[in-house]
Parts: sequence; C-alpha cells; structure tokens
Amino acid sequence: METVGIYVFSGTGNTLRCAEALRDALAELGRGAALRMIRDGSEKASEGDLVVCYPVYGFNAPTPVLRFCRGLEGTEGGRVWFMKTSGEPLRLNDASSAELARPLRRKGYEIAGEFGYVMPYNILFRHSDEAASLMWETAKRRIPAAARMIAAGEGAAPRPGAGAKLMSALCRIEHGFYPLNGRLFRVDAKKCLRCMKCVEACPVGNIKYKDGRFSFGGKCACCTRCAFSCPADAIHIGIIDFMRVNGPYDFARDPAKAGPIRYCRRAYERYFSGQ
Ligand SMILES: Cc1cc2nc3c(=O)[nH]c(=O)nc-3n(C[C@H](O)[C@H](O)[C@H](O)COP(=O)(O)O)c2cc1C
Repeated sequence: METVGIYVFSGTGNTLRCAEALRDALAELGRGAALRMIRDGSEKASEGDLVVCYPVYGFNAPTPVLRFCRGLEGTEGGRVWFMKTSGEPLRLNDASSAELARPLRRKGYEIAGEFGYVMPYNILFRHSDEAASLMWETAKRRIPAAARMIAAGEGAAPRPGAGAKLMSALCRIEHGFYPLNGRLFRVDAKKCLRCMKCVEACPVGNIKYKDGRFSFGGKCACCTRCAFSCPADAIHIGIIDFMRVNGPYDFARDPAKAGPIRYCRRAYERYFSGQ
C-alpha cells in the first residue's frame, strides 16, 4: 500500500507531537507513513496522498507552509488532509487552510479533509501545564479517529463560516508583518548564554551570529521557536514581545487539575467535551 507523506511545520513542537501521534496511529492500522519537516517551505513532497500539518497563525497557515503547497508538483488523484493545531478552539480558525487549498486544487489534489486539535499557546499567554496536559490528552484520544479516516481515504473538507473567512482574509496582512517584525527581534546580551540554540532552532535560517553579535534577517515566519527555546529567556520578539511565551510545557501533569480556562471558556469546554 502507498505510503502517506506527513509534512509538518512546527514552531514549538505542538504540531510535531500531534503529527507523530498520527504517524503512529496510521502504522497501527498497517498504513505506512513517512514524516518530513517543512522548514522554509522549499521542500519537495513525494507523490501520492499527503497530510499537511501546521499551527494556526493569525487565523491562517504559516508562510513556509503556503510556500510548500505552492511549490508542489502536480498530481493525478493525490489527496490532501490538513492537520492543524491552534491555541484556542474558536470557529474563527476554521478558514485557516483556505489559502493552502487553492494552489493544491490547481495542482490536481483533492482536499479530502481537515482535523484540528487545540494545543497550548506559544504566544499571547502561557496556559498552565495542567491545561496543556488536558489538551494533549484530548488530542491523543482523537488522533486515531483521524488516522482511520485517512487510512480509509475519507474525511470532510472544511466548511468555514462567513466570520472565519473574513478573519482569515483580514489577518493575511500578518504574512507581511512577521518578516518586518522579525527584523526587530533582539537578544538581551546580559542574559544570553551564547548557546546558539536560537540560531540552530530557526527553521528559516533567519538568525546569524557573527563577531559576537546576533542579527535577524527579513525571513522571520514568527514561529517563536527562538524565544520559546531560549534557556535564558533572552530573546525579545519585536512589537509583540508582550505576548512572548518562553519554555516548554510539561505535558505529563494531571489533566483533571486543569480547572476552567478563563479566556474563551465556553469554547474550550465545548472542545474538551467533544461537541
Ligand atoms: C504568530 C502566531 C500566531 C498565532 N495565531 C493563532 C491564531 O490565530 N489562533 C489560534 O488559535 N492560535 C494561534 N497561535 C497559537 C498556535 O497556533 C498554537 O500554540 C500551536 O499549537 C503552536 O504549534 P507549534 O508548537 O507546532 O508551533 C499563534 C501562534 C503564533 C506563534
């Protein structure tokens, strides 16, 4: 049986976690899957069915994922599923794949379905580790159903409402904002450990270190991996620095202790209860 190509862009690991769980669930069903990372979007995909995995950025997909979809070869009979993660369970995120679907359809792909999982914010504010664990447990429980649909060639294409389409269209301005804002990133020299984790982590190669100084180019996708993975919390992320989240979540806490999430409380409750 043909292998499914799982292509993943992940800034801070949430989407990769979910994509790995999908790969493992497909393997349990006897459906081979190869997981490959999208970095700057210039990667080429194998022939056949694809799952494109991405985190929602500003009600849209990250620009490297858009570049990846635009750069794919044409196909005959290839199908695409989207798997996305987002920090909030709002239906306003429902049109985030629309921009990706357009070039894919032109290249002959059938948009076969979409699966979305809520994972903790890597920007805006920090969820508690208990809430992060509840999100991860919920995603893990639901991902096997997505694997069964993919293995059976099934799925429902997204049907976003008017509000989601409008938000997605308005927020596309962020595609231009992220590279500009990325030039404003700076490293706090007093805190910096010179460990180079940020330079190594940046998926688009936007951070350079030369003669004792860091510089940030104009390619930032705003994945926040540099700031999130900095062990000294030394990276300022431009004019959105007040939204910075630093350091990994502990996903092994007791989800029962998550308590209510105050922001968008009803939407989270609906999501966790499976409605
Ligand atoms: C620049 C940026 C914009 C974001 N915009 C949204 C958004 O519009 N809606 C949402 O629910 N989450 C948003 N998020 C949160 C991420 O989608 C969420 O934390 C995701 O799970 C991160 O996945 P990753 O760890 O694979 O990068 C945004 C994150 C970043 C960095």
